[in-house]
Amino acid sequence: MMRRLLPILAVVLVFVAVVGGSTHTTEVSRKSFPKGFVFGTATSAYQVEGMALKDGRGPSIWDQFIKTPEGTGKVNPKGVAYYNRLIDYMLEKGITPYANLNHYDLPLVLEEKYLGWLGHQVVKLSLDLYKADNSIMDLTWFLCKTSIRKDFADYADFCFKTFGDRVKNWMTFNEPRVVAALGYDNGFFAPGRCSKAYGNCTAGNSATEPYIVAHNLILSHAAAVQRYRQKYQETQNGRIGILLDFVWYEPLTRSKADNDAAQRARDFHLGWFLHPLVYGEYPKTMQNIVKDRLPKFTNQEVKMVKGSFDYVGINQYTTYYMYDPHQKPPKHLGYQMDWNAGFAFARKGVPIGPRAYSYWLYNVPWGLHKALTYVKQHYGNPTVILAENGMDDPGNITLANGLVDHTRINYYKGYLAALKQTVDEGANVIGYFAWSLLDNFEWRLGYTSRFGIVYVDFKTLKRYPKMSAYWFKKILGPNKH
Ligand code: GAL
Repeated sequence: MMRRLLPILAVVLVFVAVVGGSTHTTEVSRKSFPKGFVFGTATSAYQVEGMALKDGRGPSIWDQFIKTPEGTGKVNPKGVAYYNRLIDYMLEKGITPYANLNHYDLPLVLEEKYLGWLGHQVVKLSLDLYKADNSIMDLTWFLCKTSIRKDFADYADFCFKTFGDRVKNWMTFNEPRVVAALGYDNGFFAPGRCSKAYGNCTAGNSATEPYIVAHNLILSHAAAVQRYRQKYQETQNGRIGILLDFVWYEPLTRSKADNDAAQRARDFHLGWFLHPLVYGEYPKTMQNIVKDRLPKFTNQEVKMVKGSFDYVGINQYTTYYMYDPHQKPPKHLGYQMDWNAGFAFARKGVPIGPRAYSYWLYNVPWGLHKALTYVKQHYGNPTVILAENGMDDPGNITLANGLVDHTRINYYKGYLAALKQTVDEGANVIGYFAWSLLDNFEWRLGYTSRFGIVYVDFKTLKRYPKMSAYWFKKILGPNKH
């Protein structure tokens, strides 16, 4: 049962804006934003909780990916009790929880049962046959039937039922695109599947699997939203959505070819998920390029998927220039290859922005403005939360240096100013969450990267607020209402 996922429920801490105002000041603060605008910080369970081998939590695909698997479990009462304590404590402290049901992770048993998000019901039948020489031949085959979607909906249902009296803001998945692309196109993330041409994976097919996985994730999301709407929303009076990552893709030159490449990138990135949710189908660019490898929604599924969100979280950190690489048709098909778009990090020798520690993260505030304006213009100005934004320092930075994080404060100042501009221009953005509350396990980078506004000593687990935490406190403090 997907209920084993409980321990990986991710919780976003949100500080509720009590009063608002709109007098403009030179430095952005709470009062620069409309009344009711929420500020918070985001974390995810796998990245901060630990406990992989403790208190009855079953192993997950990330435990396996980083080679520490152990144990199994059903609904874990200790997991439920933990989240009850966490939710109650947040409410007691005046913090509104925004709960996300799945952040990259998946119980290992479901990976084995269904081949994870590929969604096969794998039933192993074994038949012993005697060969001519009287030795036994083991004939094994698999029957496939999709049902991970139902399991996800059951798990979501359990969470709504158990926590929905207090949690009023739900998200189904964090960055399903990252799961599909990094998990199944290049194998950078668990479960580490890809075609041989695209990475060092033991199994996979980059041409088809990312699309099957994304399709299953979208349908699992829609099934969970359907449950919420049918059984809980009216009485619990909450809302539900999904968290999508987005990078702003700026054409490198003004040429039509580069503009088209940037648009393909936007469609293959955000459009892959947001387009079906808003319009009931994948972007036309994707349909034309991916053709038969792109699954189709049945009429019934279109009804379920289209409009399956009350709000959408956009995680936005960075911006790249895109160009048309003028390449010949590729020998090996794959999701990233299908983009047919080249990435550039400088234009005429001028870098797009200062780089953070992570190789992919450039500080480009104007990209946030363009990304959110794009969502407003192309997807009917939906209700949006800017749900992740931040930058990292190297993991080995000393405590003394880590605490004086002026670079991070400048990053936040720039992005918040761009956000304010976007809101002032009419984008329906209702909140901003900084990534992240704490230094934590940064996936492939492990503990070599620190995104927190609070420094964590990974040996003692002692926490030290960085200057950025005090800066947020200052700009969001009561005198800034
Ligand atoms: C996001 C992801 C987070 C965190 C962050 C920084 O894409 O949701 O888990 O890792 O990036 O890389």
